[in-house]
Amino acid sequence: MKNNAHSHIRMRRLRRNELIRDLAAETSLSPADLIVPLFVRLGQDIRRPIMSMPGQFQFSPDMAVEELREMASRGLRAFILFGITEPGDKDETGQAAHDPNNAVCTTLRRVRDAGVNMLAITDLCYCEYTSHGHCGPLTAGAESKRSGKRRSKAARSTTAAKSASWGIGDAPPPSTTVDNDATIERLAHQAVLHAQAGADMIAPSGMMDHATGAIRTALDSAGFLDRSILSYSVKYASSYYGPFREAAESPPQFGDRRNYQMDFRRSSKEAVREALLDVQEGADMVMVKPALPYLDILAAVSAAVPVPTAVYQVSGEYAMFKAAAAAGWIDEKAIVLETMHSFKRAGAACILTYYAAEIAEWLQA
Ligand code: PBG
Ligand code: ZN
Repeated sequence: MKNNAHSHIRMRRLRRNELIRDLAAETSLSPADLIVPLFVRLGQDIRRPIMSMPGQFQFSPDMAVEELREMASRGLRAFILFGITEPGDKDETGQAAHDPNNAVCTTLRRVRDAGVNMLAITDLCYCEYTSHGHCGPLTAGAESKRSGKRRSKAARSTTAAKSASWGIGDAPPPSTTVDNDATIERLAHQAVLHAQAGADMIAPSGMMDHATGAIRTALDSAGFLDRSILSYSVKYASSYYGPFREAAESPPQFGDRRNYQMDFRRSSKEAVREALLDVQEGADMVMVKPALPYLDILAAVSAAVPVPTAVYQVSGEYAMFKAAAAAGWIDEKAIVLETMHSFKRAGAACILTYYAAEIAEWLQA
């Protein structure tokens, strides 16, 4: 070895054995960092597998309670609910979201009654409740503009993956959009219903401007000063949501979400601005979504905001790992744990992941 000024430096010293590597580790992972996503629908005894998300299920409220008991016993401490609406109960404005006996509210009450000791978070949006699958009621005149452009029944019943994908250069979406201010007014109402049913934390996911402020004001005036808001502040229009739309039965029936969700060609400056706006409006935590393809964004946001940052490893990320693992091409456990650490290293305080239950098991072993 050449004797130069830095020859005393040996980077390998801190890698010498497991004891010193563990001591030097700067990130850690525990079940307490994870949020379990759960899909719920009304009914009984339902535990229906989701094809594009192996290991994930739609649960009826009774089965959701059992599932969460099991999760709690593995050391998991938070869950987030996604409500599924029966097709016959969907309409243009998503009125089913305001039914205190819908799947989300019913499950929350059951979980509370059962005394499951986990933090209850609810996804707050309208796409699971509207007939058109968009994240809120549409602007006036949208129906007539849209009807001529409706795709055939066959085209509409295409797979979730297909309906969620697009390429640069595709035809522009129909000239109709979600009515921002009508939506946030309704979100505020829905948030209060969730709080009444027992939600600890509300997570608005629709990317409507000023949703966070509207929800904070509504929660406070209804007396729910202690309930927190986890804003999906930084959510990209992403093809990685494909499997979720099958899981939640909520693909947009026309167009896409690019005029409210973020454009992946923008820089982290837009992301930081979104997150800071939500903090100003009262977000207790912010979220970046998706996760692995957006680590640069996660790092920038978590460094810029004075609140904890969550990250959402979405359905498409999960499905890709599951497919490669099923084919025997990757070491699933090793890859998933490595990926979780990349989120922590990039600044995530917590991680929403469909792998939560498996990770908890792996960490216990
Ligand atoms: C609803 C919502 C979506 C996801 C979470 N909340 C779908 C969407 O925005 O199209 C996606 C989650 C996932 O893919 O795992 N607004
Ligand atoms: Zn939505």
